[in-house]
Amino acid sequence: MHIHKYEKIWLTFGIGCLVVFLTVVGVSAFASGQQPPSCLTTIDPEKVDTTPPFNQPGLVKKGNNEYELNIVVAAFSFTPNAIEIPKGAKVTINVTSKDVIHGFEIPGTNINMMVEPGYINSLTTTFDQPGEYTILCNEYCGAGHHMMTARMKVVD
Ligand code: CUA
Repeated sequence: MHIHKYEKIWLTFGIGCLVVFLTVVGVSAFASGQQPPSCLTTIDPEKVDTTPPFNQPGLVKKGNNEYELNIVVAAFSFTPNAIEIPKGAKVTINVTSKDVIHGFEIPGTNINMMVEPGYINSLTTTFDQPGEYTILCNEYCGAGHHMMTARMKVVD
């Protein structure tokens, strides 16, 4: 069977692209451990106050230098709204909303989550810079949206 020269070039190019693509996806998924956001953890938004861990919001020590920070978000507040975190600790932040969609952003860091009622959004991070941070809502959620903030202190 005769294959035209241009056809061979395009076939090689196409298969080459496929190999590169699958390698990139494979390495990032299996070697680097990257995965889609955990948007499938659900919660009844009307029972947030009685569902662990959100029935006792705040910082919980989970291990040696490892913490969990559970925050309940509702119009127009974060609970707790003054948080202290040890510098260099591994912190998993869990957030959920009791009413509408809110945002959870800490300017100056790469932390930015959407807070949806019915879902628990999480991320794990480490704060290496001591200082005061502001947590703010960046999704328009009503009349008090512009006042919806909390303070976080990273301490030595
Ligand atoms: Cu909550 Cu904007």
